[in-house]
Amino acid sequence: MAFDTLFSPITVGARELRNRIVHVATVTGLGKDRAVTDRLIAYHAARAQGGTAMIVTELMNVHPTSTGAPILVSIHDEANLGGLSRWAEAVERHGCRLIGQLGHIGRQQLWGLDSVPRSASSQPEALYWNSARPLAEDEIPGIVAGYAESAERLKRAGFSGVELHGAHGYLIAQFLSPACNDRTDGYGGSLEGRTRFMREAMAAVRAACGEDFIVGIKLPADERVPGGIDPDEAERIARAAAAEGVLDYLSFSQGAFGPAFDTHLPDMHYPPRPFLPLHARLRAACGGLPVIGLGRIESAEAAETALAEGACDMVGFSRLLISDADWPRKTEAGRAGDIRACTFCNYCWGEIHAGKPIRCFQNPVLASADEAGWRPPPAVERKRAVVVGAGLAGLEAAWVAAARGHAVTVFSASAGPGGASSIEALLPGRAEVATTAEFQKRKAAEAGAAFRWGETATAEAVTACEPDAVILASGSRMRWPPALAEGADAVDLRRAVADLAESDDPPSPGTAVLLDMDQTPAVYGAVELLAQRFARVVLLTPAAENARFVNLMSRMGVERRLALLGIDVRRLTEPVARAGERVTCRHVITGVETTIEDVALLTYATPRAVRDELAGDLAEAGVPVTLIGDCLLPRDAASAIHDGHRAAFAL
Ligand SMILES: Cc1cc2nc3c(=O)[nH]c(=O)nc-3n(C[C@H](O)[C@H](O)[C@H](O)COP(=O)(O)O)c2cc1C
Repeated sequence: MAFDTLFSPITVGARELRNRIVHVATVTGLGKDRAVTDRLIAYHAARAQGGTAMIVTELMNVHPTSTGAPILVSIHDEANLGGLSRWAEAVERHGCRLIGQLGHIGRQQLWGLDSVPRSASSQPEALYWNSARPLAEDEIPGIVAGYAESAERLKRAGFSGVELHGAHGYLIAQFLSPACNDRTDGYGGSLEGRTRFMREAMAAVRAACGEDFIVGIKLPADERVPGGIDPDEAERIARAAAAEGVLDYLSFSQGAFGPAFDTHLPDMHYPPRPFLPLHARLRAACGGLPVIGLGRIESAEAAETALAEGACDMVGFSRLLISDADWPRKTEAGRAGDIRACTFCNYCWGEIHAGKPIRCFQNPVLASADEAGWRPPPAVERKRAVVVGAGLAGLEAAWVAAARGHAVTVFSASAGPGGASSIEALLPGRAEVATTAEFQKRKAAEAGAAFRWGETATAEAVTACEPDAVILASGSRMRWPPALAEGADAVDLRRAVADLAESDDPPSPGTAVLLDMDQTPAVYGAVELLAQRFARVVLLTPAAENARFVNLMSRMGVERRLALLGIDVRRLTEPVARAGERVTCRHVITGVETTIEDVALLTYATPRAVRDELAGDLAEAGVPVTLIGDCLLPRDAASAIHDGHRAAFAL
């Protein structure tokens, strides 16, 4: 497919963009003490170099009443002017337009209350039930001035434009939304009243910055909060915003802070592009102004189609460009096979929410100074390396080492790549997990790595390769459930999933019982598979909650699916015995025992133990061995891949 529209220029306001690719606003956690850092600049410079036409920064605070976490850069005074100027220069010199996102978080303190939030009203939001002190009418002009002065400051710093953040339940959306705005003054009530704050802020920004400066806005498409902004109201708001005659583009996003929070960042369980039809509908209300379509747009083909069919004028990507900064250049050059495809796992967002700098589980060079166009640098000395295991850790080590020029042989006990991730990819909604290992395998093969599929490595076989070094990535195994009687009829979840995926048996009329001591996304994908194959599913966990290792954004979806599937969830409970079709469980605090009848399958996802037996044999044979991934210590996929990356450099 040719991507003629995707790579065609477009005029936005008084500026031209080289193509239709926009990196939409993304908090990176790379700001520090409310200031710009070198890594924050490096992150954006890499994406500018990678071919993106326009980058919208993360939310930056326009007024001292908007604080939030100190990772968010403040732009309401001159303190950051130097950093902002360096940032703009670093992006704009690559022919990319840098747009500052003007934000005020209002009552929405995503990282906990650290100030006295101000909002349109005192109504609590629907996620944490944070309340706020309502802004007095005579305080509002000062906040509006904050938007204008911040925008003018960004213009002086060399930015090409600004985007007012009016979506996601932050301050502008708090004024717009009937679910929040219960004011009785001129900033509430009717559509005109609720849009007044937004309209004043937009007009003030334009007046402060003049015509030669891009002014855009991101607006709610569908808040999914009771009494909030639905698509019809979103259309009315979009029309009102566009009619002001001060905007150069609009962008839409769905979800506020509430039970539908996960619609901000639809994860891999959503179909691709779930909200594009809604954005296309809203585009019709924008009076011909360019509109950015976004939300799980997963491929160049999808982007081209969206543009060609008129769903949007530009395509917005966040996660896909986190995963691969060079996506535009690689796409334009027809190098799709070199793209590290985003899996839409939301790991990146989870890291930010946990207060850490941004990480992508599969992009170890993220925000490094040489991320753009990154290729593994050639090794000084060519070595012979054996990698044992073709899971995510082993494959990462294999492809990077081979691309550095080492002679790499990979032993894989299974017939295909991915290890545990290949089993996870069999689960409902989790097929995209497979793309990571496919990328690694492709790159390793291209670089000349030799694969010995289906061959369990022995010390003899490995030493016969006469390796200078061995990287052991042989993974982990589930431990026996701690409270369950030895010998009970139970099977580890990976085995159960592999068996079920291969089986043509009709659904069982019995009950599947799953012990969840893992709490990662794969377990809940497995629950869905069990629900397809058994009449009833009971999910046990000795913890007080489920999905502790699923980021909050995706956890909303997990909870929704568990509820819709009618899963019998029993927390603080673990299995202790099985007799035939009866499983006995115990409440971990009270010790009270209960039973589950008609059990056809008892399966467990438990803390894992390393599978490192080969290390001792190889050490005896005098071969230097490096352990990585689960085989070193069972952790998550990010740790596995980052271990593999490091090991390839340590050869
Ligand atoms: C880590 C992360 C941080 C984000 N921060 C912001 C933000 O500061 N402002 C904003 O408007 N949207 C933010 N978003 C939402 C994105 O702009 C975008 O609407 C959403 O990710 C859907 O696009 P995608 O499917 O291409 O990722 C963030 C998304 C991610 C993944």
